[in-house]
Amino acid sequence: AEFELVIRNARAVTAADIFMTDIGVRDGRIVALGLGLAGGTREIDAAGRHVTPGGIDSHCHFDQPTGDGSVMADNFVSGTRSAACGGTTTVIPFACQQKGQSLRAAVEDYHRRAAGKALIDYAFHLIVTDPTPDVLERELPALIAEGLTSFKIYMTYDALKLDDRQMLETLAVARREGAMVMVHAENADCISWLTSKLIAGGHTAPRFHAASRPMLVEREATHRAIAFAELVDVPVLIVHVSGREAIEQIRWAQGNGLRIHAETCPQYLFLSAEDLGCDDSFHGAKCICSPPPRDKANQAVVWEGLENGVFQVFSSDHAPFRFDGPDGKRAHGENASFDQIANGIPGVETRMALLWSEGVMRGRIEPQRFVELTSTNAAKLYGLYPRKGSIAIGADADLVIWNEGQPFTLSNTMLHHNVDYTPYEGMQLHAWPALTLSRGEVVWDGTAPLDAAGRGQFLACDRPGPAQKRRRVDELAL
Ligand code: URP
Ligand code: ZN
Ligand code: ZN
Ligand code: ZN
Repeated sequence: AEFELVIRNARAVTAADIFMTDIGVRDGRIVALGLGLAGGTREIDAAGRHVTPGGIDSHCHFDQPTGDGSVMADNFVSGTRSAACGGTTTVIPFACQQKGQSLRAAVEDYHRRAAGKALIDYAFHLIVTDPTPDVLERELPALIAEGLTSFKIYMTYDALKLDDRQMLETLAVARREGAMVMVHAENADCISWLTSKLIAGGHTAPRFHAASRPMLVEREATHRAIAFAELVDVPVLIVHVSGREAIEQIRWAQGNGLRIHAETCPQYLFLSAEDLGCDDSFHGAKCICSPPPRDKANQAVVWEGLENGVFQVFSSDHAPFRFDGPDGKRAHGENASFDQIANGIPGVETRMALLWSEGVMRGRIEPQRFVELTSTNAAKLYGLYPRKGSIAIGADADLVIWNEGQPFTLSNTMLHHNVDYTPYEGMQLHAWPALTLSRGEVVWDGTAPLDAAGRGQFLACDRPGPAQKRRRVDELAL
C-alpha cells in the first residue's frame, strides 16, 4: 500500500480552514491530503466527522516535587495516558528548579522521571526559581540552545517566587536568547497578609482560599509583569488568567502594541468560588487552585476573551492531588487551614472535550478557533510548530477524530488519571474523542488507551517565533 494509514472522509479543521479530505500517513507523518487517496495498510473511515490536530497541553504538572508533604497523583505514565484519552497528543509539563539547585540538575531529574513512561510526546518548560549569575549567564542559555526554550517564573509562593529585580534579570535573558517566558501573576505579599488576617480571625476552611487571593492581587501582578515586559522589550505569556481584572490589563497591553500573550483554563469557565464550599466542610479542597475560580460574571468575561482573541492558549493547568489518602489534599489533615492545602486540580483529560462541547457545539467559538486555542498557538508560542499543531503535509500525524452528538454525564470513573475525583463530575457533555492518534498510531480507540508507556518521545523545542527580537521598521528600511 502507498500509505501506512489513510483516514478517509475527514472534516479536517486547522486554525485556518475546514475542508473534506483523506489524510495519508507514512512514517508517522502526514504525507498527503485530498479526497480519493490511494490505499493504506490500515484505513480508518472518519465518516465526515471533525478531525482536529491533537491537543497540545502546554501547561500541566506531572510528577513534580512539591516540597510540602503532598505528592502529585500523576506521573508520566498516568498523566500522558489520561491526556491521550482526552485528545491531547503533546504535553509540556515543568522541570522545576529547587532553590539552591542547578537548572541542569532539575532538568536531569525530570528526564529521569519521564524516561520510558510517556504514551505521547512531551517537551519541558523550565521553572526558574533561583536566578543566580551562573543560572542566568551560563545554564539558562545552554538549556535554551538544547531545546528547553520556554520557562515559567512565579510572583507568588515562597518556595518559587522571584522579586522584581530577579524578574527583570530573567526577562533580559529571555530577550537575548529568544525564549518564551510564562508568568504566574499574583502578588505574594498581599496574599500572605490577607492569609494571616483570615487565619487570625478563625477563617481557615477551604473556601477562604478564594478570599485570600482576590482578583486585585492578580490584577496588580499582571500589571507589573506587563510593565516589566515592556521595560525589557520582551514578550511574556500570562498563565492561568482567571477573570475580568487581569483580562483588562492584558487587553490594554495588547491594544498598545505590547507582545503580551495570555492563557486561560477550564476551571475559569466552569468553576466558581462557590465550588470551594458554602460551609466549612473539607470538600471544597477539591477545587482549590491558584488563582481561584471567580464567579459567573467572570466566567462570561473569560469566554469573551476566548472569542475575541485576548487569549491565545487554553490549557489545563493539570495539577493532580488526590482528595482521599495521606499525600493529596489531606496531607496536613482535614483541619488544615486553606493555605496548607495543595494547590491545583486535575483536568488534562477533560480540557479538549469541555471546550469542544461547551465552546464549539454551543456556537461560542468556531472550530478553527478551538484548534488555535488547544493546539496551534501553543505549538507556535513554544517552538513546536509546524511539526505539531496542524493538519499539514510534513506535520506529525497527531490527530483527534471527534464523536459528537450523544450527550453523556461526565464521571471520574470514565477518566484515566490517577486522581480520585474530577471537578466536573456530573456535567452533561456532547462530545468526546472517538480516536486519538499520535504519530499515526491509535493511542485512544474510544474504549481504552494503548498500553505502550514509553513510546512518547521527548521534543526539543525550537526558539519560538513569537519570542524573536522584532526587526524595527528603521532597520528594514536600510
Ligand atoms: O493551583 C495551581 N494552579 N497549581 C499549579 C501550579 C501553578 O501555579 O500553576
Ligand atoms: Zn501558576
Ligand atoms: Zn458545601
Ligand atoms: Zn500550573
